Amino acid sequence: MDLGLNGRVALVAAASRGLGKAVATALAEEGARVAIFSRQQEAIEAAAAEVRSRTGAEVLPLAADVNRHDDLERVVRATIDRFGRLDILVNNAGGPPPGTFDSLSEEQWQQAVNLTLMSAVRLTRLALPHVRTQGGGRIINLTSSSTREPIPNLLLSNAIRTAVAGWAKTLATELAPENILVNCVAPGRIDTERLKELDQANAQRQGRTAAEVRRANEAAIPLGRYGRPDEFAAAVAFLASDRASYITGITLYVDGGKLASIV
Ligand SMILES: NC(=O)c1ccc[n+]([C@@H]2O[C@H](COP(=O)([O-])OP(=O)(O)OC[C@H]3O[C@@H](n4cnc5c(N)ncnc54)[C@H](OP(=O)(O)O)[C@@H]3O)[C@@H](O)[C@H]2O)c1
Repeated sequence: MDLGLNGRVALVAAASRGLGKAVATALAEEGARVAIFSRQQEAIEAAAAEVRSRTGAEVLPLAADVNRHDDLERVVRATIDRFGRLDILVNNAGGPPPGTFDSLSEEQWQQAVNLTLMSAVRLTRLALPHVRTQGGGRIINLTSSSTREPIPNLLLSNAIRTAVAGWAKTLATELAPENILVNCVAPGRIDTERLKELDQANAQRQGRTAAEVRRANEAAIPLGRYGRPDEFAAAVAFLASDRASYITGITLYVDGGKLASIV
């Protein structure tokens, strides 16, 4: 299937590893030119070199922090300076820390709102004028299965990603007349550094090994395993494509069947 991404330009946040890097790779494989950023210069340059060598696409790496508004301004400006247009924005960031209600401070709440919700709001506000210039485009937010089913010990993710989903759903309606489609893609358990850290934290909390935690998690997934980042990224590439021209305002769960509810 030709996804129709040739000539399109994508900006992918938090893309030096894990889901963001896999999404950048999938979009580049389909012919898009991509700007990617994360905080660590060396890591993002290494990721760009990898995506370039795997896909042959033009990749612009930038060191920037989603928490800093001036960084986000610089990233959007650099994307336009380099590629002259912007069609697809992929909002992503590192995950908020684990914790229960009693363990989380006011400061941690504020930081998580900034990281998980406001980074997407701000980057979208900055990118939107350029997407509008193209007469249409895509805004895709990476969220979590926690937007449907809260995950124990991940209170900040459970609370704040649901706010992202509510914002995105409203934005989808507001931008539909301009043919700018807004969707979320929610990972269940995709095998990345972040997931290994969470398994390790749960192992410590429960007095088990990380391998035991992983086995128990996999047993609860109908497909019987964690997902691969490229499997997750394929869903994002589809929603970014011309083939998804009548899909807006949804959350697509990429979870190997883990969520048990019908809707
Ligand atoms: N993997 C899963 O199954 C899963 C499930 C549910 C939700 N999620 C969520 O999906 C998102 C991505 O997950 P992942 O598994 O790919 O995580 P990951 O492997 O930890 O990668 C996180 C990426 O974000 C970048 N990053 C972190 N903080 C940043 C910041 N302040 N500004 C810019 N870049 C930043 C990191 O690079 P630098 O260190 O260079 O900044 C890295 O490239 C996270 O929010 C995670 O909580 C993942």
